Amino acid sequence: MPSRRRFLTTASLAATGLAFAPMAACSREAAPSPAMPAPAVADASDGAALRTRTIPSSGEPLPVIGGGTSGSYEVALDSPEFEGLKETIRVFFDGGATVFDTSPNYTNADEVLGALLADGGFRERCFLATKIAADDRAAMEAQWARTQRRLRTERVDLLQVHNLRALDVAWGYAQELKAQGLTRYIGLTHYLESGHAPLLQAMRTRKPDFIQVNYSVNAPQAGRTLLPAAQDQGVAVLVNRAFDDGRLFAQVRDTPLPGWADDAGVTSWAQMFLKFAISHPAVTAVIPATRRADRQADQLRAGRGPLLSEARQAELTAMFG
Ligand SMILES: NC(=O)c1ccc[n+]([C@@H]2O[C@H](COP(=O)([O-])OP(=O)(O)OC[C@H]3O[C@@H](n4cnc5c(N)ncnc54)[C@H](OP(=O)(O)O)[C@@H]3O)[C@@H](O)[C@H]2O)c1
Repeated sequence: MPSRRRFLTTASLAATGLAFAPMAACSREAAPSPAMPAPAVADASDGAALRTRTIPSSGEPLPVIGGGTSGSYEVALDSPEFEGLKETIRVFFDGGATVFDTSPNYTNADEVLGALLADGGFRERCFLATKIAADDRAAMEAQWARTQRRLRTERVDLLQVHNLRALDVAWGYAQELKAQGLTRYIGLTHYLESGHAPLLQAMRTRKPDFIQVNYSVNAPQAGRTLLPAAQDQGVAVLVNRAFDDGRLFAQVRDTPLPGWADDAGVTSWAQMFLKFAISHPAVTAVIPATRRADRQADQLRAGRGPLLSEARQAELTAMFG
């Protein structure tokens, strides 16, 4: 019998028409590798559903905690790390998360994610976001065909122009693929503060469904510019680099959580950094990367309980500024 949370997730997918039929999916259970038995990680839900935010252009709800593949999913298909990812991704979906972001230029991450989604039977539960990252139309077409093959899916949920690369051509192509029903949403990404002004400009002129941008306790600039503008324009926001690519953890190695962390339901720095990101009202979901199942379970806990007040968000940015 499905759990109530699983039922709600499935029911809301059906209600919103989220589930695209995947090209290839099977329900084979992942077997632990003899080389590295994957210890089962306890359900991180604590009985509560993940907080959701709606996509302004459609009203479709998305869980606020998602995942990314950069670095963490760039592993060999026959490696112990790949076996470990089977448990990590199980924790992700069983915990109620759905949004996964990847890109054709993260070496073999698409191949790894495609295999994990197909083998685990997760494709229908996944809001799959990827990118166009090429310089001309011919290269984009070849890349899209490779993306479909590697991700083992005909259609994706969100197709984004990576770092505004070859924007005019890429945006036209993304619009065509959306019109053909091969992606439900289209968007624009950047990951550096130097990209915020051109991203803001492109958001105003192109009117994407989504933007994706860096936003973290030590890089909060988007919170004052891009995020309010996205909210005003009805554009959904994915947040990348909420851990500054992992560097924030080195900074807090010997630092206790603030005394008020308990009140916010926060028990780790990872949860604190993610809660900071989702506490901005413009943010639809944050997409942290991790290879580890225990870290995945921890990250999901940030999607439950109260958000941080503006005063506490300001305290964090002052601490890391
Ligand atoms: N231009 C773009 O469009 C763009 C640019 C950058 C990123 N992105 C997207 O955003 C996603 C997230 O960004 P990101 O991967 O650059 O960085 P991130 O999420 O800020 O950090 C990920 C790193 O943090 C480490 N980590 C996670 N939890 C940890 C913990 N509890 N303790 C210590 N280390 C921990 C991970 O290592 P482990 O795997 O070992 O846990 C990984 O190396 C990417 O995967 C990608 O999908 C997009």
